[in-house]
Amino acid sequence: MADALFQEWRVYEKLLIHDYMDHLAFFDRLAREITARFDRPVAILDLGCGDLTPVRPLLAAVPVAHYVGIDESEVALSIARVHLEEGAVPRQLVAGDMLEVLKTQRGPFDVIIASFSLHHLADPDQKRAVFAACAPLLSSDGFLAVIDVFTSPLEPRDEYVERWIHHADTRYVALGPEEKQLLFEHVRTRDFPVSLEECRILGEAAGLPGFIVLLEDSPRLNRLVALSAAKLWGQSRGTE
Ligand SMILES: C[S@@+](CC[C@H](N)C(=O)[O-])C[C@H]1O[C@@H](n2cnc3c(N)ncnc32)[C@H](O)[C@@H]1O
Repeated sequence: MADALFQEWRVYEKLLIHDYMDHLAFFDRLAREITARFDRPVAILDLGCGDLTPVRPLLAAVPVAHYVGIDESEVALSIARVHLEEGAVPRQLVAGDMLEVLKTQRGPFDVIIASFSLHHLADPDQKRAVFAACAPLLSSDGFLAVIDVFTSPLEPRDEYVERWIHHADTRYVALGPEEKQLLFEHVRTRDFPVSLEECRILGEAAGLPGFIVLLEDSPRLNRLVALSAAKLWGQSRGTE
């Protein structure tokens, strides 16, 4: 079912312009991790790529063999096509549900990015299916980079939603009342985040036991987590 926030895009675009979700810091940290781990151009798959605004600095900062972005929002992809035309990276944008499109991908990918997209999968089985589909697509030293909102341990969803809305109501000052209403309705009906421990378990079950939190924001809502087949990072070493 179409999501009003992502079909219309204008309100979400405002969040990106004002960097309210700290995309700049998360993608900068991810670019540094990629640079540190690979001495070759990397193949990147981006699940729920949106309009590519946040990933563009990363695509400029690291050597990219090729980039594949998947999204179900045609509006987001129409902006993404313009953004990609401005870059020199070999690229492909695929419209559709990530679960279906993942079945058509051959890999290997060095980095699979899921930035603020996995929490939109309402059914736990969908989350399990995405992790399971990603694992065999990764190169042996590759990793799944999840940038997303997370619940606190054992936090019920309704408490998480109220915590998120309180945070956004205070911080997202450039949004007008109607824009906030659209955003908050989206979060109430479309956001199904997991805790860090649930994310770790999803990875382990899919054959990605390596798990580390690479960056965490100060309200402890958003994190960058890396998962890998090799226990490259051991257990979480916390934030940097
Ligand atoms: C919050 S936006 C994030 C966009 C971008 N990755 C970013 O960080 O700004 C979530 C994106 O995931 C897409 N999305 C949500 N569920 C999806 C699904 N099942 N398959 C493909 N795309 C999906 C939405 O259309 C939207 O563009």
